[in-house]
Amino acid sequence: MTADEAVTFIELSLEERSLTRVEQSVFLGVWQGFSYSEIAKQTGYDAGYIKLVSHKLWHLLTETFGEKVTKGTVQNVVRRRMQVKKADITSTTTIPNLNAEPNSHQDWGEVVDVTFFYGREIELNTLQQWIDRDRCRLVAILGMGGLGKTALSVKLAQQLQDKFDFVVWRSLSNAKTPSEMLLAVVHFLSQHREMPETNDINALISRLLEYLQRYRCLLVLDNFESVLKDEAQAGAYRKDYEGYGTLLRRIGEVSHRSCIVITSREMPEEVATLEGDILPVRALQLRGLDESAAERVLESKGINALTSDLHRLVDWYRGNPLALKIAATSIKDLYSGNINRFLEQKTIIFSGIGNLIEEQYQRLTPHEKQIMIWLAINREPVQPNELRSDIVPTIEQNYLMMALRSLKRRSLVEHTAAGFTQQPVVMEFVTNLLTDQIYQEITQEHPLGILPNIQFKLNRQLFYLRHYALIKATAKDYIRQSQVRLILEPLLTKLLGRLGSQQMVAKELFTTLNELRRRELRPEGELKSTFGYGGGNIINLLCNLKIDLTGRDFSYMAIRQAYLSEVKLYRVNFARTELIKSVFAEVIGGVLSVAFSADGKLLAIGDTKGDIHLWRVSDGKPLLTYRGHKGWVVSVCFNPEGTVLASSSVDQSIKLWDVSTGNCLNTLQGYIGAVMSVAFSLDGTTIASGR
Ligand SMILES: Nc1ncnc2c1ncn2[C@@H]1O[C@H](COP(=O)(O)OP(=O)(O)OP(=O)(O)O)[C@@H](O)[C@H]1O
Ligand SMILES: [Mg+2]
Repeated sequence: MTADEAVTFIELSLEERSLTRVEQSVFLGVWQGFSYSEIAKQTGYDAGYIKLVSHKLWHLLTETFGEKVTKGTVQNVVRRRMQVKKADITSTTTIPNLNAEPNSHQDWGEVVDVTFFYGREIELNTLQQWIDRDRCRLVAILGMGGLGKTALSVKLAQQLQDKFDFVVWRSLSNAKTPSEMLLAVVHFLSQHREMPETNDINALISRLLEYLQRYRCLLVLDNFESVLKDEAQAGAYRKDYEGYGTLLRRIGEVSHRSCIVITSREMPEEVATLEGDILPVRALQLRGLDESAAERVLESKGINALTSDLHRLVDWYRGNPLALKIAATSIKDLYSGNINRFLEQKTIIFSGIGNLIEEQYQRLTPHEKQIMIWLAINREPVQPNELRSDIVPTIEQNYLMMALRSLKRRSLVEHTAAGFTQQPVVMEFVTNLLTDQIYQEITQEHPLGILPNIQFKLNRQLFYLRHYALIKATAKDYIRQSQVRLILEPLLTKLLGRLGSQQMVAKELFTTLNELRRRELRPEGELKSTFGYGGGNIINLLCNLKIDLTGRDFSYMAIRQAYLSEVKLYRVNFARTELIKSVFAEVIGGVLSVAFSADGKLLAIGDTKGDIHLWRVSDGKPLLTYRGHKGWVVSVCFNPEGTVLASSSVDQSIKLWDVSTGNCLNTLQGYIGAVMSVAFSLDGTTIASGR
């Protein structure tokens, strides 16, 4: 365990407050074996003060961990506590089977922790009867966001695990395509012996069915609504995800020994068609928690009140556990636990959890809001360090931890073994907020006649566009695809709706790009900082719109998280651009020739596609692609100043290029046959070539 990990662990363990900066210094110093006087010297504080701080710190940690902590024991205690915590998480979340041996017949994916689960006895009974007694083949648990479908599905799977040969639990948020998911499940059920060599959905489902007939398997697919279309008629599938519908239909229709449980906010078509009280396909429409379970949820968040008041609150939120958890902290902090005063503020009818989240969000500090948005962008659990590397300008570690703890207390953020994340409904709210804000920034109305357009636009803050990434080019493929689908594309749809055509959207994006450049550039032509996601966002939007970037100018910008892997970058100008965490394609054909510039800073590559690529040696950044040859580029060389590049090709020509712009300065022809070599004289005035 590193010292930083230890600080993170302590931050999360402290209930009421965060470590101060000097406490952190003392802790880190002691962890690394320094004496108090050495720590005092390093930090510039008085040695007596450091001793006092450490005395209080050991006292705080003693109370937190319930065992004596001193300078001499702190490492051991923290390490031991961390081990216990890890073991807890493993036994309650990742491998709910209490066997010490990992069970090769169970795959719980990233299942959530259901240690604190109250009530739902009736629902669990019904579901168990359907699955165990009535041998249902397909069961759907349905209900609005935050109602407890996921938690119930985990509890159910845990209770039923001994009745099945195999248990597989999967969340479909950030869903894999149906064939990818089926391949993985068949691979698992075959105990890693089989990996079908087909992507054909029907063939894969048939293979899966063979296993479902041979063994008794429980397959839970959580968040099934993620593969359904957003706005179309209820129950229809997203493009490329229709295979999930075929899967449900065949699972429901064909006879086998297994059961698939899905949780969903919407009823899929197949379930609607096949379900019935005496049929092997059933649906449970979930309601809120009953009074006593809901009260226990409130108690767990520190709310103790008169039964009648608790009833009012539970009733107001229809027993929705997530809503109750989120409201609880407000009631405690802002209304001293007085439920009536809290409810008196409510004028609109509770119609869903959205308005509650909005209220809570508006109260957050700027750091907390920032973290909420980055958690939504990341889409899956992230560790604090990764979160910190996303945030610009950099946030101090202790502020980050403080904000995370406060968000956790408010139930707006969840802490899992894999890191921090949000409940799906909360994530949706924050994602919408981000796309709305950026949409407004890009399309901001200009008050005509008051200021010239350009002047007004210069005053635009473009705050969200610069501070947040719409997608993370460096994320895993399936996460990036989710970011495109759930963040970038909805924003483009809104922009297209407002601006009318792709061309108009592109025009507005280029205008915005120019404004960003002006913001990021000092008058002397230097980049102010490598701050900001604006450039990367604009490039990602343009690429998604399939706008041809040939010859476009992205010079003098910071470009973060641009995903350019599937984009052609002919003659795109990246001069003086800071490219950070961006992904480029391997667009190069077979490499036939290479040359360094005389100062060793540039590398030119000629390829079999007839292209020449210019790279910066220091960081491997591709700068320009020169296009013009019609055949293999077999030789390249720089003039001594590094301003002109000569290339020769099997297309019987030699070309001279302006190194900095990529413009072709001259084409020398006259050869019959390939020009196999080209070289500059030492003074750069003459070129020699050979066949
Ligand atoms: N029976 C319960 N007892 C205690 N807490 C619960 C219970 N059911 C759900 N919760 C808590 O309520 C929150 C929402 O639950 P859950 O994630 O299961 O909702 P969901 O219906 O799956 O929502 P979504 O549709 O957004 O996926 C979670 O924090 C969960 O721990
Ligand atoms: Mg869920």
